[in-house]
Amino acid sequence: MALSSLTLATFALATWVSMISPAHSATCTSQTFTNNKLYAFCNDLPSLGSYLHWAYDPAGRTLSIAFIAPPDRPDGWVSWAINPTGNGMLGSQALIAFRDAGGHMTVKTYNVSSYALTESKVWYEVKEATAEFSGGVIRLFATLVLPAGAATTVNQVWQVGPGVSGGVPDKHSFQPANLNSKARLDLLRGQSTVTPVGDSRTKKRNIHGILNVVSWGIMFPIGIIIARYLRSFPSADPAWFYLHISCQMAAYAIGVSGWATGLKLGSESKGVRYSNHRNIGIALFAFATLQMFALLLRPKKDHKYRVYWNIYHHSIGYAILTLGIINVFKGFSILKPEQKWRNAYIVVISILGGSAVLLEAITWIMVLKRKKSSKSTKPLGGYGNGNARQEHMNI
Ligand SMILES: *[C@@H]1O[C@H](CO)[C@@H](O)[C@H](O)[C@H]1NC(C)=O
Repeated sequence: MALSSLTLATFALATWVSMISPAHSATCTSQTFTNNKLYAFCNDLPSLGSYLHWAYDPAGRTLSIAFIAPPDRPDGWVSWAINPTGNGMLGSQALIAFRDAGGHMTVKTYNVSSYALTESKVWYEVKEATAEFSGGVIRLFATLVLPAGAATTVNQVWQVGPGVSGGVPDKHSFQPANLNSKARLDLLRGQSTVTPVGDSRTKKRNIHGILNVVSWGIMFPIGIIIARYLRSFPSADPAWFYLHISCQMAAYAIGVSGWATGLKLGSESKGVRYSNHRNIGIALFAFATLQMFALLLRPKKDHKYRVYWNIYHHSIGYAILTLGIINVFKGFSILKPEQKWRNAYIVVISILGGSAVLLEAITWIMVLKRKKSSKSTKPLGGYGNGNARQEHMNI
């Protein structure tokens, strides 16, 4: 019975994992602006941790943008440009945001014809341009009017730099991320076709999601179900113990890799912080690591401290169960994968929850029956010695 539920759950998990495809998740959709500006479209740009939000009115050829990027240093600069004549830096018509001599954030325009930048008029008209710096990122807001006859698909180029000398932005570095920061942008359809670098951030986020859902969201709960219910079946002793340990150790290994990918993603997305998700993640890692120690520190069954060990092991186990599931849902609302993934997880977790309820009932029936035949046992009686569950813990 127990095994068939677990098989079912595992099957559901396998189906779910096999359905995995590149999800259309974007971080920019969860970014909001303090001035409550709303833009029709946004893109997670494929390099330099940058984002573009925009809206385009073809009638007036008016383009409103919010460009978000982390400068290399707090007194650095960020730039977003359209290149009407090519697809790289040379020829690009750039907006550059930085802190001016007076300490105020400013936005200037540059017709980039060489590495020596001089402020100049550009190909489009700038109606309005402002910038703000907070949380390690510069947000550049601008309203532009494109020249008559401008195409609605443009080449965009963006860049970040380390500092400003005498009012002139310093040279940026020449890492691959700095050289790949260009893409096509379809102003009307809201899709930018990205030049070859590929959307590695999306890929990383999906890997992070999969590892953590499998570990914290599915395997740890299965391991807890095994420990709590399988051991009530005399025939499952001591198999439940080894199943429990292997399941949780595998879950831990997967969970720690998922956790590490999360830290990496967190450190790459400056300015966009998901503090709760991150803090719960750190707590989960700490609790799960403690549980690994629990295995080493476990007193013998009849040791007088065993009762305390049980309390410690069980409370942390249930904390992991609860926080793990909460964090999976928090993760879903951050990554915003297609609804089917969230639904698939809800199905899996409902099957696990349903199995647990069923097994809980079966366990009670078994324990009560046993109680009738032998008066010395109590049903599921806490953590003390002599309860029915511990009769079978012969390890
Ligand atoms: C930008 O500079 C180039 C080269 O100096 C020049 O040919 C071009 O007309 C300039 N573009 C604008 C919009 O001023």
